[in-house]
Amino acid sequence: MLAYPSKFVNNDLQKYKKKAQEAELEIKNLKGQLDVLKTSIQKGTAVETGDEELTTLITKNVKLKHRLAILNRAIAEQSVKAANTLDNTMTSIYDKLSTIFSAAISAAFPDIPDAPVVIALSGNNPKFGDYQCNSAMPIANLFKQQGKKIPPQEIAKQIVEQVPQTDIIDKLEIAGPGFINIFLSKSYASHILQNVLKYGVLPPLLKKKLRVVVDFSSPNIAKEMHVGHLRSTIIGDAIARLLEYLGYDVLRINHIGDWGTQFGMLIAHLKDKYSDYLNRMPPLENLQNFYKESKKRFDDDPEFKKRAYECVVKLQSKEPDYIKAWEMICDLSRKEFQKIYDRLDIKLTEMGESFYQTHMEDVVKLLENKGLLENDNGRKIMWGDKEIPMTIVKSDGGFTYDTSDMATIKYRIDELNGDWLIYLTDAGQATHFQLLFKCAENAGFFDKKKVRLDHVTFGVVLGEDRKKFKTRSGDTVKLIDLLDEGLKRALDKLKEKERDKVLTPEELKQAQEAVAYGCIKYADLSHNRNHEYVFSFDKMLEDKGNTAVYLLYAYTRIRSIARNANIDSEKMKELIEKHNVSLDHEKEWKLGKVLLRFPDVLFKITEDLCLHHLCEYLYEISCAFTEFYDSCYCIEKDSSGDIVKVNVGRILLTEVTALIMAKCFDILGVKPVSKM
Ligand code: ARG
Repeated sequence: MLAYPSKFVNNDLQKYKKKAQEAELEIKNLKGQLDVLKTSIQKGTAVETGDEELTTLITKNVKLKHRLAILNRAIAEQSVKAANTLDNTMTSIYDKLSTIFSAAISAAFPDIPDAPVVIALSGNNPKFGDYQCNSAMPIANLFKQQGKKIPPQEIAKQIVEQVPQTDIIDKLEIAGPGFINIFLSKSYASHILQNVLKYGVLPPLLKKKLRVVVDFSSPNIAKEMHVGHLRSTIIGDAIARLLEYLGYDVLRINHIGDWGTQFGMLIAHLKDKYSDYLNRMPPLENLQNFYKESKKRFDDDPEFKKRAYECVVKLQSKEPDYIKAWEMICDLSRKEFQKIYDRLDIKLTEMGESFYQTHMEDVVKLLENKGLLENDNGRKIMWGDKEIPMTIVKSDGGFTYDTSDMATIKYRIDELNGDWLIYLTDAGQATHFQLLFKCAENAGFFDKKKVRLDHVTFGVVLGEDRKKFKTRSGDTVKLIDLLDEGLKRALDKLKEKERDKVLTPEELKQAQEAVAYGCIKYADLSHNRNHEYVFSFDKMLEDKGNTAVYLLYAYTRIRSIARNANIDSEKMKELIEKHNVSLDHEKEWKLGKVLLRFPDVLFKITEDLCLHHLCEYLYEISCAFTEFYDSCYCIEKDSSGDIVKVNVGRILLTEVTALIMAKCFDILGVKPVSKM
């Protein structure tokens, strides 16, 4: 029994948007009137004491209060109307309940401004409902501060009285010291899930399309792309995917380290070793060895060092041969990086340090003009709020990592129109970014209220011995080798499960890649990124617990249910039109409610940018699914194994589960396969 479905559900999004906008406008309007009234009441009450015209004022006051109550009621109704308006996108239950209770609370207690609206999930006991509003206790405290003693139960009662009829709530109950237990309406829930079947897993609409610049991966030319960069790549990609899904305009930036004094020694060494480099491409398959060789010479040989510095100067003054050498080295590195990105399906736009050349010059001038730079023995430094300053210009006139990052902030806000800048690096760079953000703020590069800046950090990767991640021989692990090993281990695992006997070679290959790359990504993402993390193929390939292997299997199993009931995609479409998702059984309802939380899980991640919430959620879905599947028949067979009954409502529930799980995988950058 939904108030707006026939009108809105089958209509396009535009209409819904308009309706919501209208409702919002009306609320705004009413709120304005309300503020005016509130002020008058306050004035009225102030005069009330001791004035001769007491009676007139009291009457006026009563009238005003009455009017206020009516207005609050209208706001509540408008908000609820907005909350009830259904569209094809997935509704945030948390948002809707917050809107409804916020309106009810302000209608019940107009004298308490900013009364807290506390909405929480209820525990496992169905007696306590599905969600709770726990505002009564803090409101009672606020009254206490005003010298009024009102029991929280009474407050809860008054809130409940102000909650208007709404489609999302089935019933409300007051329990204990004033908890309001909220029982969701199953028909509303089923409606949302039905929409997922009809239109796909659509995210709730964003209020405003914001541009986000995500700086991730960002390895350094000629140097090792190490496991730290792997973490940055995996986490950054997932953040970008999440925000893209939610409707943000995302720029994925690879801020590679492609400029700096290290190119001096690389070019000097290149000239010595391959003097013909301009005509013939030097065989530099192993750029890292080349880097090590030149570094050794740089450290050991003062004459070489001097030449290396000369090369830097020539490169900076853009001498063609030197630029050519630099490009050559960058290209070689780039090709190596791309191999990793291709395998992991990572999209990035390169805009490295060298890109900021002129921007750095401008930034320095700007800071100088603002008088923000201090001379420190020839260096130009800038203070933030730490004991250490940033070095903006070195004593030899060169720029630093600090300079380039100041330029990134300015450029990404002014030129790229970024509303939100995200930088991913290991936690070792936390101080750099704190200082950077502070200095950029002091320099007036951005308005804290308008632009959001996040440094997303992560802990170090450890080997199974809990020491720094290394190969057996003690060398740093090459990422390509790591991915190869993942492929090998994944194949072993699939063979161990005798999947090679049932899958075609093509299917087996797909499953192998899905498992290998999926498990590497998932292991990283499922841990709280702030903690250090132990890289272990054995652990990530376990088929129990919160691992990619377990979840990918769970997903394929769910996918196979409809297949086993001989329902192909055409048939599924037909069923969706004619039947509803079933939510009657206790376990169906439990699973359904977990699925409804999807948008709220995503919103939470946009706040702390911790992807492990999504992994935990995926695991929770698969556990709730197992419980459901264990107690609810989807297909009934007779003793000879023939299907005698198909419970369509349940089959539809398995389908929504699969769709939402697939969306979670997609956001995490893990590729599910339908056969495994
Ligand atoms: N290239 C740097 C490193 O390997 C990471 C760069 C991160 N991005 C930035 N804008 N600072 O540590």
